[in-house]
Amino acid sequence: MAVLGRYSAGRVFRVSQVKAYLDSTGPFLQAFRGRNTDDLMAYYVERCGIEDGMRILDAGCGVGAPAAWLAQRFPALKVEGLTNSRVQAEHAKLAIEAAGLDGRVSIRQGDYHDLSSLYPHAHFDRVLFLESLGHSHNIRQVLYGARDVLKPGELVYIKDFFRRRSLSSDLQKKIDHAINVINGNYLYHVMQLPDLVAACMETGFAIDSISPPRIVPDLQLTVDFEHKAGRLTYPAFSHLHAVDWYDVMVRREGLAVQR
Ligand SMILES: C[S@@+](CC[C@H](N)C(=O)[O-])C[C@H]1O[C@@H](n2cnc3c(N)ncnc32)[C@H](O)[C@@H]1O
Repeated sequence: MAVLGRYSAGRVFRVSQVKAYLDSTGPFLQAFRGRNTDDLMAYYVERCGIEDGMRILDAGCGVGAPAAWLAQRFPALKVEGLTNSRVQAEHAKLAIEAAGLDGRVSIRQGDYHDLSSLYPHAHFDRVLFLESLGHSHNIRQVLYGARDVLKPGELVYIKDFFRRRSLSSDLQKKIDHAINVINGNYLYHVMQLPDLVAACMETGFAIDSISPPRIVPDLQLTVDFEHKAGRLTYPAFSHLHAVDWYDVMVRREGLAVQR
């Protein structure tokens, strides 16, 4: 099978995976969401306090659907989308061009572990990780770079899922098994929430808020995707509560500057 692109260092995924996503979930490559992507994006706008005129970095931008949605709703917004997948970047660039947004949305192929060398210092008002940070093999490196490219006093938003923990060693073994299956199938490094909190604090962020996403997910989207991609993860945890989803908002220390 032809090789399509890279998700995380040294790992490859197949052509069928992006096609399976596009066929089953459409261009928003997110698992925890309903079918109405306008509602989903409106939720992010409110949660992140996105306002027209801001500069946004969509780190792990997929095929550019969230970036395009934002630019269409906010005429003075500037969005940078970054993905480490060449094929996703190509899809995204074509979609942005077709939507006439090429002046305001810019897509780049690159690694979010290198943010400081990809973007100017103190450049963005928001950095978004929409189900993307969990691919990282080194969240401290990513966060350190995010801090560098973010303006003082501004926000990083992370929506992702986290390993559950239990006092019962039997239950913990089952959870860990499920997590290993997820990590293998999705090339993920499922995070632990306390570790993300520690990493944010160590890299110069103050914790602004942590809450479960106010999103009602349609998990059938993921089931459909997994059938199309021929890679079933959900049986490993269908009877087990192995992960929790959270919205994590952190603020770069320092005084906010007027836009
Ligand atoms: C589940 S998809 C989410 C895509 C997008 N946020 C969306 O909502 O459609 C995860 C994204 O993270 C990207 N990604 C994973 N590792 C990355 C890295 N090291 N640098 C940049 N992007 C990365 C993948 O290529 C993919 O675009």
